[in-house]
This record gives sequence, structure tokens and C-alpha cells, in this order.
Amino acid sequence: MRKLLPGLYSIDMELIKTKQELNEKIIQLRNENKTIGFVPTMGALHQGHLSLVEAAGKQCDEVVVSIFVNPSQFNDPGDLERYPRDLDKDMNLLKNTACELLFAPSVEEVYPETDERVFDFGALDKVMEGEHRPGHFNGVAQVVSRLFEMVKPDKAFFGQKDFQQLAIVREMERQLNSGIEIVACPIVREADGLAMSSRNMLLTKKHRKSAPLIAKTLKESCNFVPFKNIAEIKAFVIGSINGDENLGVEYFDVVDGNTLQPVDRWEDSSYIVGCIAVFAGKIRLIDNIIYKNPGK
Ligand code: PAF
Repeated sequence: MRKLLPGLYSIDMELIKTKQELNEKIIQLRNENKTIGFVPTMGALHQGHLSLVEAAGKQCDEVVVSIFVNPSQFNDPGDLERYPRDLDKDMNLLKNTACELLFAPSVEEVYPETDERVFDFGALDKVMEGEHRPGHFNGVAQVVSRLFEMVKPDKAFFGQKDFQQLAIVREMERQLNSGIEIVACPIVREADGLAMSSRNMLLTKKHRKSAPLIAKTLKESCNFVPFKNIAEIKAFVIGSINGDENLGVEYFDVVDGNTLQPVDRWEDSSYIVGCIAVFAGKIRLIDNIIYKNPGK
């Protein structure tokens, strides 16, 4: 990667489709003593992904991005089928970013045989996304661990929108102990507050119009902390969002930011996060808000 000015790169990004080619490139970079930053994605890239690439470019010598729609993490076949795919568009978006290698393997390349591994994340995956999307995080761990093994990065970058995924990936890395630093990056939002997501492009016009209410309500609920108790905050958030006929809350949980277990009182933890999943028509959106953060 050649940095021209901060945030401006001149790169002939290379598209790689096989593990063998990727391995050769990684060996070459390692021989040059380059540090490697990795951004795993499922494509349908947006500014949120690009912010991860940018963070990786700042912290590492070279950046590898993967695009792979991982079948093993979809518990709903309709969701897998609908998931947007457009490699040319994604490649255009990655041009002149810090991305040096784009790894876009086939399903056979990633899973030459079915992955039978079952991870044990204790209580972390029994709540929220884990509860509503059975098997989802096992699939995420299967693919992320495989990609980590192939890319062998120094650091891997994940967005905080997928708050629970981040906790699961950290726990997976703790168990596998492969020495990869997991870097969390802030949520990137549209001008109207909607958290950026590849699924946003699947929203119908009326659902897209309603969707910003999710972020708006979460933000508003912050003003009530600590004056209203957690049960009241939950009732406010769920009531406000369900008040829009185009939106339906699947869950809104207020949890400890490390254990992800529900918290009943503000004084029960120093790190408290509200995590939500909402159906906007057939499209499921997630978002979260940090109510209390020990780091701040
Ligand atoms: O967050 C995502 O896009 C996916 O879950 C990930 C981490 C790329 C694994 O498929």
C-alpha cells in the first residue's frame, strides 16, 4: 500500500479467490515484515465497512478484506437468498482505500468439507441474537476462525453495530489463542441516524422511512438514564418503536456490556448496553446504545 496523503492511497488492489494464492501473498508480506490488518465482510459494502478498512490502514502496513457470504451463519434460508451480492460494485468501493488484497473465495474454497465444530460460548450466545437466530454465532465462529487461519492477521477489525458478534469473536479468539488483536470500531450512521447495514438496501420505501425511528428512540432513551429505571426504559423504547406500524421490535434487552446478561438496575454494572432487533417488513435490523461505559 502506498499512502499519498492521510486517508488517500494508491493501490492496485488484487482480487484473490483461492486459499493457495492468498497464502502465497501472505508469505510474501510476512517476508517483507509487513503487519496485516484484516476486515472480514459479507460484501454489499457501505461506509461502515470502509471505516473498518480505514482504521485497519491506519494501524497496519497492509489490509486484507474478505467478501464471503457465509451460509453456515444464516438460520433463515430466505435471508441467505436475499442477501445482496455485487462484487463489481464492492471492488469499486474498495478502490483507493487501504485495501491491498481482496479475498473473495467460493463456498467450496472455505468449506471443502462441512464444518462440524461446535463452539462453547457459555452464556454469551444464549441471549439476544443467539436466542433468536439459533446456530448463527456458531456459524460466525466457524467462518471467522477459518478466515483467521487463512489470513493470519495481526489485527482484525469489527463494527460495534454487531455488539454481540464482537463479544463472541473476542471469546473465540481467547479460546483459540491465535494472538490476533480484535479491534472494535464505532457504528457508522446515515445522516438520519439509521445504523449502516448491508440490509438497509433491501428496505422498501416506507420501511426505510420508518427505520430511523430505531436510532432516534435509542438516543432519546439515554436522556432518561438514570432517572427512569431499566424496566421503564425498556417499555419506552419498545412502545415508541412499535408505535410505528411499519416496525416491530423482536427484542430490546439492556445487558452488561461484557457478559451480555440482562441487567435490572443501573447500579448492577459499570458497563450497560441496550441492544435491539427490529423487523421492518421482512428485513431485520439491529442497533445498540451504550448507556454506561467504564471507559468513558
Ligand atoms: O459481520 C459480518 O459481516 C459477518 O458476520 C462476518 C464477521 C464477516 C462473518 O461472516
